[in-house]
Amino acid sequence: MFIIKKEDYVNSEADALFIGLFDKPLKFEGALEPLDAAFSGQLTELIKNGDLSAKEEHASIIPALGQIPAKRIVSAGLGKEKEADFHAIQKAVTKAARQSKAYGLESIAIVLDSFVTESITAAEAAEAVIEALFTARYEYQGYRTPGNEPEKQLKTIVVYTEEDSSEIKSACEVGKTMADGTNTAIRLTATPSNMMTPDDLALQAKSLADQYGFDLEILEREDMEKIGMGAFLAVAQGSAEPPKMITLKYKPSDSWEDVLTFVGKGVTFDTGGYSIKTKDGIVGMKTDMAGAAAVLGAMEIVGKLRPERPVMAVIPATDNVISAKAFKPDDVITSLSGKTIEVKNTDAEGRLVLADAITYAKQQRAGKIIDVATLTGGVIIALGKDKTGAITNNEPFFEEVLEASREAGEMIWRLPLTEYDKKRIRKSDVADLNNSPGRDGHAIMGGGFIGEFAENTPWVHLDIAGSAELTPGVMTRTLAILALSDQSE
Ligand code: BES
Ligand code: ZN
Ligand code: ZN
Repeated sequence: MFIIKKEDYVNSEADALFIGLFDKPLKFEGALEPLDAAFSGQLTELIKNGDLSAKEEHASIIPALGQIPAKRIVSAGLGKEKEADFHAIQKAVTKAARQSKAYGLESIAIVLDSFVTESITAAEAAEAVIEALFTARYEYQGYRTPGNEPEKQLKTIVVYTEEDSSEIKSACEVGKTMADGTNTAIRLTATPSNMMTPDDLALQAKSLADQYGFDLEILEREDMEKIGMGAFLAVAQGSAEPPKMITLKYKPSDSWEDVLTFVGKGVTFDTGGYSIKTKDGIVGMKTDMAGAAAVLGAMEIVGKLRPERPVMAVIPATDNVISAKAFKPDDVITSLSGKTIEVKNTDAEGRLVLADAITYAKQQRAGKIIDVATLTGGVIIALGKDKTGAITNNEPFFEEVLEASREAGEMIWRLPLTEYDKKRIRKSDVADLNNSPGRDGHAIMGGGFIGEFAENTPWVHLDIAGSAELTPGVMTRTLAILALSDQSE
């Protein structure tokens, strides 16, 4: 799909010519000089009139009116050149891609060198542009009856650059792979729960295993009863849908040491159980498996880009519904770890399914664990929706995750977990732990509860209840970048 060419973008016949525009006095220097010349300096005029803007996140679409063979110019405003980084490109191209989507572009030409600065190489720019382009253009198809007009598909992308073409081509492919992984997560999350049951999630994992050679293991209800996964099974107890504990293992070599492990909350629908949600609060709870979706999206990227370190994914998949068999508030359940839990609130089910998933991951020799979950409404109150809330028991590992999140452009913010918090989680008259110690600090109560099961294994918890709503597919890239990063420590 990617063709890399050295010259003559001015004569490209693409449906759109994508350019990056920096906010500097002479906007059409360097790579863009020939373009302005082809328009006899008229582009500079358009800037003066405000029809074309280089301001950060401003996108402009200019019809070519026969001045060049391409049909139109799509310009991504990048702001000040000195301040621009990878994310400035991502944001600008996202805007430009969304704005130009309605044109049904079948071919795009990218003037790559117009995105390059002293601090952004052509390869970095290529990855950022392609990744943003394919993420922004993605739209969940849903189940609407298709209209008669066949939708136009993007078929070719020509990237014009003076740089080494094989390096740029592989950077484009990495960008596309990242976007595809994120889009997988978006699709899985958006799929309604009657079409994305625990069994469907298991099928998605199987398809990844088949494509990329992962080991796949799926525990059925009976398997889990045998080993005593009482916390996960309590949540699944009321459901007619068979629960699945899904494990994928990526083994790049014979060594299964220091295994980076992703655990994703896979609650395919959360009614709240007997602590039932309100009629408004329940809508949208098909997305309570966004953590599982991010993990599967990241595994897709891992499968394609094949990092050196071993990676494992564990997904506890069930819905949380009411029936005569469902678990109830006041029940005491025994987790796989042996710790007993008093259920105060059946709507605090995420921490229960994750508790057993984390114990299970440790039994499978997880080295470092990162869990991703739409865990609490509390995190939205605390941090808003543009940040993912984090909790950790290990500073160096948290730093690694933070670094990956920065590289991914996905903000995370750490929440404190104090001894006072831990005492509240451990306060119960009848059991070792309490799944809902009360509303105050409840994002911390949720994460802290999961930490009781991570124990001494380095662990980072990511609460995406808000961020997955604002930014579907969130954390897919952070997880993938973490897997691809060097493991120097
Ligand atoms: N799945 C919800 C959290 C959630 C809320 C996700 C809003 C997305 C949007 C979770 O299982 C839940 O219900 N949490 C409760 C916990 C409480 C009962 C301690 C909550 O946040 O209210
Ligand atoms: Zn819940
Ligand atoms: Zn939930």
